[in-house]
Amino acid sequence: MKNEQDKYKRIQINDNDYLIIARSEEIFEGKGRQFFFGDEHDMQLAVFRVKGTLYCVNNICPHRHQDQIHNGIIDDLNIVCPVHYWTYNLQTGQNINQKQGVKSLSSYEIFESDGLVYLEDPKIDLPKWRTNKLETR
Ligand code: FES
Repeated sequence: MKNEQDKYKRIQINDNDYLIIARSEEIFEGKGRQFFFGDEHDMQLAVFRVKGTLYCVNNICPHRHQDQIHNGIIDDLNIVCPVHYWTYNLQTGQNINQKQGVKSLSSYEIFESDGLVYLEDPKIDLPKWRTNKLETR
């Protein structure tokens, strides 16, 4: 299967790699969108536009590994996982309620220019339990 990361145009800016993942009008205000990268199901991110600004975090909730962050509830600059309501900051991915747990989402640089959405070439960490499974194949 073709690596899905290859479907996005790759460009370099100041020695950093970025992927052009969408046109600006494809990311709607207040609604998450799921993007896949690579062959593994777990390599997916969630992109949001909140008050006009784009944010990108891992789409897999570290609580029970549900790929539902893109369907989360936006609360100011936080995203609430719709499954058990763990809450993360959209800018940093940090879990904002340490009583829920200490695991956080990874966050990724994202911006738009000339009507296109640029995302830092994501190095997506698979959860440990998935990595172990891959190594035993
Ligand atoms: S899977 Fe997200 S809070 Fe439980």
